[in-house]
Amino acid sequence: MRILGIETSCDDTGVAVYDRHDGLLAHALYSQLDHQAFGGVVPELASRDHIRKLLPLVTDVLRQANLERHALGGVAYTAGPGLAGALLVGASFARALAFGLGIPALGIHHLEGHLLAPHLEADPPPFPFLALLVSGGHTLLADVAGVGRYRILGESRDDAAGEAFDKTAKALGLGYPGGPALAQAAAQGRECGIVLPRPLTERPGLEFSFSGLKTAVLRVIGEEPLTPSRQADIAYAFQEAVVDTLAAKCEQALRMTGHTRLVVAGGVGANQRLRMRLAETAAARGARLYYPRAAFCTDNGAMIAYAGSVRFAAGARDTADLGVRPRWPLSELDPP
Ligand code: KG4
Ligand code: ZN
Repeated sequence: MRILGIETSCDDTGVAVYDRHDGLLAHALYSQLDHQAFGGVVPELASRDHIRKLLPLVTDVLRQANLERHALGGVAYTAGPGLAGALLVGASFARALAFGLGIPALGIHHLEGHLLAPHLEADPPPFPFLALLVSGGHTLLADVAGVGRYRILGESRDDAAGEAFDKTAKALGLGYPGGPALAQAAAQGRECGIVLPRPLTERPGLEFSFSGLKTAVLRVIGEEPLTPSRQADIAYAFQEAVVDTLAAKCEQALRMTGHTRLVVAGGVGANQRLRMRLAETAAARGARLYYPRAAFCTDNGAMIAYAGSVRFAAGARDTADLGVRPRWPLSELDPP
């Protein structure tokens, strides 16, 4: 069954077609740039851009996949969590399209999309596994027993890791979105004695907190004039602090759960330095690291089409009421 996937939870419009037997047939993404001028996502602008881009992207992926609309067997869309207006655009579009074609629609949890994204790759992680989900809105460790079977082991009490990257990048004058820009600057930086905290790594427990690190780095930024080399050194120190913190928590979680597979997913999972460190952390415990390609770490339609195809195959369907859930705890999901 060919499943159309639609992602509109934040500022990326993602569309893809996935088939359980033939795999990913096509995907397309439009990353909104209007938000750059504001240094963050403006919800109303995001909704309007999703409206403008959805239909052209659907036309584009169907052409790429060489499919007629009537060849689709279902439409999966992100139902939450995310920006209410942006979610409503995707949900209304997906359900109207499905209704028009006489096929089922299904709302997907955005974080389930991220967690299952490594399954879009050639050598996917078998269940069960430990997952580190690090995005702009979430930072959590989950024990993943199977589809819809997620036990949250620890979450961020405040800022998400991606949010800390974005805010630090903004303070360094590196633009938006900050993660990739900061990583690029960090590659030019070096170790030069900037001391930043590794929050909550001194104590047991799998919770995260990044607001103190952000405050500490803001203080360092204010200490001296920002030359390009100073900028790169601060970016380096900040990235090391985040990577150390995430690696320490993953190490502890691998030890606690005994899992031999670690998945890193979500936008920050595209970070090369983080991948390198987590691969070492996993290897030191005889475990293996899995991650999707960078384009499927950040928001995309393929992960929603994939999660949709698994749930559709198990018989899941939307009910009549249109319910997007801007706040939707991952732990409330059930197996299909
Ligand atoms: O998963 P995602 O696209 O959207 C959310 O669901 O939030 O994650 C976006 C986040 C942003 O904070 C962005 O700065 C961060 O992922 N990000 C990165 C990198 N690429 C994206 N952070 C660090 N290094 C990267 N290479
Ligand atoms: Zn995301």
